[in-house]
Amino acid sequence: MQFQWYPGHMTKAKRQMQEDIKLIDLVIELVDARIPMSSRNPDIDELGKNKARLILLNKSDLADKDASEAWMEFFKEKGYFAVKVDARNKGCMKAISAVIAEACKEKTERDRKRGIKNRPVRAMVVGIPNVGKSTFINTFAGRACAKTGNKPGVTKGKQWIRLNKSVELLDTPGILWPKFEDQQVGLRLALIGAIKDEILNIDELALELIAILTEHYPGVLHARYEVEEDQTPANIIEQIAVKRNCIQKGNALDYTKAANLLLEEFRSGKLGKITLEFPVTVA
Ligand code: G4P
Repeated sequence: MQFQWYPGHMTKAKRQMQEDIKLIDLVIELVDARIPMSSRNPDIDELGKNKARLILLNKSDLADKDASEAWMEFFKEKGYFAVKVDARNKGCMKAISAVIAEACKEKTERDRKRGIKNRPVRAMVVGIPNVGKSTFINTFAGRACAKTGNKPGVTKGKQWIRLNKSVELLDTPGILWPKFEDQQVGLRLALIGAIKDEILNIDELALELIAILTEHYPGVLHARYEVEEDQTPANIIEQIAVKRNCIQKGNALDYTKAANLLLEEFRSGKLGKITLEFPVTVA
């Protein structure tokens, strides 16, 4: 499968982010809990060096709980703070503010030694498109007390959302572009719907999903579609087409309709909580 990308936007977004990052203490990076590695752009490690780092495994409501725990351990071992969240859920924000305080402890301590008291930690959200950045900021802002507006010494026009007396969040997220020179990474991004379906071969994508599901989540396809799983992916999609009555004019089976159905049901969580990639330790 071939993917294309247009790097022009990325250059602009990256420049903007370089400016914004100068204003903050903490980078809150959202990744998709179903593909925590493939939904990252490693450029952020360079852009965010010398900053405290928090990774939010977002959409964890759709991901495999055990795999998410393993990913949290993986990131923590690498020196990031990590929390799994559902950005739509206000209830997650409390845990996040506690981790933010922890992640910025050193900075707060440094401030204290310099006699600076009560300067809030400033954070910004970054991540690839569709990972949930705006949702997170809205939920965060919904719980927050007030927007703080401009401040002396801060670039004009920047808005900060104050969560509590110790945390402020920049109201515009930094957009990272997905990186998918690696075909496997491209495939996983496509499976969660992070790459537009129009540029992809849906039939092929569905076969790849079936291969992953039968290997890592045996029984899931049988439970949902009553198909026999000890078959080739092509045969399984055929069975799904039969079971779900995906028929074209002239009574031929409509494989593309079955493929779309399978992908839609996977993406919306109807197949259950599924993760598509695993840290090396549990692979
Ligand atoms: P972005 O700013 O990073 O581009 O992403 P955005 O917040 O627009 O979120 C993209 C989609 O992901 C939205 O769905 C949003 O509701 C959904 N989303 C965000 N966080 C979570 C989460 O933790 N769990 C789940 N299941 N979904 C999440 P949409 O279909 O584009 O819009 P809508 O469903 O909100 O109408």
